Amino acid sequence: MSLYLITGGAGFVGSYLVRFLLERDQSVRVLDNFSTGKRENLEEVLSSIELVEGDLNDAEAVAAAVDGVEFVFHEAAIPSVPRSVENPVESHEANATGSLALLEGAKAAGVRRLVYASSSSVYGANPDLPKVESMRTEPMSPYAVAKLTAEHYCGVYHRLYGLETVALRYFNVFGPRQDPNSPYSGVVSQFIDSILSDTAPTIHGDGEQTRDFTFVDNVARANYAACHESAAGGGVYNIGCQTRISINELWRHMKEISGSGLSPTYTEGRAGDVPHSLADISAARRDLKFDPKIGVREGLEQTMEYYTPAKT
Ligand code: UD1
Repeated sequence: MSLYLITGGAGFVGSYLVRFLLERDQSVRVLDNFSTGKRENLEEVLSSIELVEGDLNDAEAVAAAVDGVEFVFHEAAIPSVPRSVENPVESHEANATGSLALLEGAKAAGVRRLVYASSSSVYGANPDLPKVESMRTEPMSPYAVAKLTAEHYCGVYHRLYGLETVALRYFNVFGPRQDPNSPYSGVVSQFIDSILSDTAPTIHGDGEQTRDFTFVDNVARANYAACHESAAGGGVYNIGCQTRISINELWRHMKEISGSGLSPTYTEGRAGDVPHSLADISAARRDLKFDPKIGVREGLEQTMEYYTPAKT
């Protein structure tokens, strides 16, 4: 049994990873400042984990969190493109400086491997599809700059200080417990919220922009493999499904699954929005044995089921 630290463990991806590890009989510690994460995401697992409440930029909290830890899943972030456009400094402090502070702590504590949640947004304005890790990065938002900065810090800590790191570039993750209650929430959680509250969803632009939507269980499996596959050390990997759908198609799927009769309202395109996104996952298939078993439709069905369990 190994001790894993999950930063941002009260958030959407973090709280999924907590359960994923507990199901595999691992010891779990969470570091969270509850800025975007929620206590209720950990409610029924609280007695099975250690919780350190604190910020990545608080060296004492980080030292307490990494003590005795073998593996770190670094999910803590302020995860929003539009929020970063409004407040770049806040995004940088949480996503870049916070990650650097964690790397410092992990290095000092002798952590074996740190897996970092990076983002497909680093490809930004580069028009080539699919996205390959060796491609030039062209961030279009402060969020993407901060995510890329921390990725570089991970690389440097790997090369310079011998702290093993792996960066996973997540492509539009969705699933249970993704917070729908903020104007910055991911589109799937926004659409679910619309369905549940029976209010028209908003589509920014013409809805023909595309994304490689990735169900959170695929992401959890990639993280686990990133800890344990020796070939992954020092690597950067796209984590997606290698399929893309438009926002209009996404809405059509969700409408079908839920039986909703709503129609979307179209508004202006969003600043900093990337037109198209699609992952090439050959590297993850090779080094992480990554196989995204749950496709977008099945993932959407499971997510809807979580919010509206079938009545028996
Ligand atoms: C981006 C990143 C992703 C990152 C995430 C963090 C890219 C390609 N992806 O996702 O890696 O983890 O930010 O937040 O840069 N939309 C609507 N209606 C809504 C909400 C969104 O039409 O109610 C549209 C957006 O304009 C966008 C698409 O849906 O075109 C997806 O938006 P969102 O879910 O916020 O994610 P990204 O910004 O693509």
